[in-house]
Amino acid sequence: MEEKKKFYITTPLYYTSGKLHIGHSYTTVTADAIARYKRMKGYDVYFLTGSDEHGQKVERKAAERGITPKQFADEKVDEFKALWKLLNISYDGFVRTTDDYHVEAVKKIFRRLYDQGDIYKAKYAGHYCVPCETFFTKHQLINGDCCPDCGRKTELVEEESYFFKASKYAPRLIEHIRNNPEFIQPASRANEMLNNFLLPGLEDICVSRTSFKWGIPVDFDEKHVIYVWIDALSNYITKLGYLSEDESLFNRYWPADIHIVGKEIVRFHTITWPIMLMALGLPLPKQVFGHGWLVLEGGKMSKSKGNVVDPVRLIERYGVDAIRYFLLREVPFGSDGVFSNEALIGRINTDLANDLGNLLSRTVTMIEKYFDGKIPEHTVSASEDEGLFALAASLPGLVDESMDALRIPEALQHIWKLIGACNKYIDVTAPWVLAKSPEDRPRLGTVLYNLAECLRIAATQLTPFLPETAECIFKQLGVSDESLKSLYDVKFGDLPVGGMVFRKEALFPRIDMKKELSELSALMPKEADKNAEAKEKADEELKLPEIQPPIDYEDFMKLDLRLAKVIDCTFVKKSNHLLNLTLEVGNETRTVLSGIKDFYEPADLIGKTVVLVANLKPRKMCGIESQGMVLCASTPGDKELSALTVLSEMPSGIKVR
Ligand code: ME8
Repeated sequence: MEEKKKFYITTPLYYTSGKLHIGHSYTTVTADAIARYKRMKGYDVYFLTGSDEHGQKVERKAAERGITPKQFADEKVDEFKALWKLLNISYDGFVRTTDDYHVEAVKKIFRRLYDQGDIYKAKYAGHYCVPCETFFTKHQLINGDCCPDCGRKTELVEEESYFFKASKYAPRLIEHIRNNPEFIQPASRANEMLNNFLLPGLEDICVSRTSFKWGIPVDFDEKHVIYVWIDALSNYITKLGYLSEDESLFNRYWPADIHIVGKEIVRFHTITWPIMLMALGLPLPKQVFGHGWLVLEGGKMSKSKGNVVDPVRLIERYGVDAIRYFLLREVPFGSDGVFSNEALIGRINTDLANDLGNLLSRTVTMIEKYFDGKIPEHTVSASEDEGLFALAASLPGLVDESMDALRIPEALQHIWKLIGACNKYIDVTAPWVLAKSPEDRPRLGTVLYNLAECLRIAATQLTPFLPETAECIFKQLGVSDESLKSLYDVKFGDLPVGGMVFRKEALFPRIDMKKELSELSALMPKEADKNAEAKEKADEELKLPEIQPPIDYEDFMKLDLRLAKVIDCTFVKKSNHLLNLTLEVGNETRTVLSGIKDFYEPADLIGKTVVLVANLKPRKMCGIESQGMVLCASTPGDKELSALTVLSEMPSGIKVR
């Protein structure tokens, strides 16, 4: 017996530090559609997804809730799996970076690389972004010391660390990328990797941390935990049993045929990961596909903006296949796509309810009405059938071509071309007119047969994308024989005559766009507020407020800022926060209350120069009138605060601008 060709496909391992949103669903639904497609084409498929559970962020978040990081991750993993169930994700393996086999294998990988001299110990000073779990060199930072990926402040970390000799393997990787154009897709991302990272000279990668504990320890130096990306990337082989007693899955499936990832982590998958594999003497994955982002009309989805779209809510409201369809159809694979309620409802109404749903219900209704629900004979062809036959016959080949190139929206477009042609065919053949004269009955039967057969063929091709919908179509057409549902070997005319159709409720009920949008907008702000609140609480120290909208120069000039000298400072009775400052502002003396008691003792401030908003309307607090405001810089949530001053001695009363 000929062995089946294998196909190994993976999604990223999503961080358990956050909640999965519609963006993560996009990656996973895409991978699922490809996996299902390959299975139907007869491949021996292994589809892997999972969770990335280590790192400082999870450690901090768990501590805030007073639970262990593992308990925290367990809750998240339950949520992940529940969402994948709702979305009909047909994964074969789910890997957790806290699974024992993974932890053991990662330790062995680290040790092996150390023993062979590819990992060495050295002193390290670098800028670390906690949310992105990534080190950056000084020249990669933006706005001084902010992360180039998320814009948040990085932390300067100095410690003894282990380093991976990435530089040693860079020339081989450059050659591999150049010789294998299919390795990084879309091709533009390959150029980005070469020009931005590899050709300027790859630095060795810091692969251990000592500043937190929640990670896989280096087993010969337990003070160190292994860098999260070394840990996370290894999952693609540890889940298959690499370096375990049973490597049979590894031998069967590695190298991966495709890693599907978002564009922001292409770098880790096409530089760090292949270099690790080269060092381990293992073959490289055949392809890394870096897809674009699903963005919102207002810009990138971000938990701190409170605008993440919760897939569970959407599935509850519109059904799983409406969401799968939107994700697979709306985002050009490789580029960014925009999510909006309007676009989603538009797709549901036009493509799903009108085009597909109506076609099925009209066809089944007419077969019931004119042929007592039995699939009629097809004995009288006419010239208008030709176009339909040609489309139906070419469909499997076209879908195949699109899927080989991973152009999923295009595959769906091909299917909808046939659906559209069927709807036109109904208009042209006008079965209700044929039904009026008995001599047209054979032609009427043929028309309805052709429609039912086209729907069956469309459903065979739809199965990997919208499995539930395809099954509903088969059911309504009375198709139960599995060979008639097969994706390939599709022949027009295989639908047996005489089978019974079963009319059911509409596949996709039409949505009243105006009403729905107004209901959603009534729902959304509250939702967004809730998300923002939750995020704010969990992430307070990481969240920077958004820059305010621009103001005119004249507006800015209305502010009268002055230097002021603190000549006295006392506590304010009955207040936990306020200090009472007596300020000398030129020839004037002012009393100003400031909520900085948690940060300064009165003695710290006396004699200091501060910056005063001198033309703020006076305001009474605790019975005392405050005549202005002292400027301070503070971290979000006011965890840290520092009053502003000047670098050299200057007289009080002068303007600050
Ligand atoms: O990066 N549009 O995990 P993560 C499209 N743990 N896809 C999106 C998206 C959006 N708006 N937002 C997220 C990590 N994604 C690491 C990966 S792999 C060994 C370790 C998808 O939870 C996209 O696939 O931040 C992206 O790459 C991934 O989620 C990031 O998930």
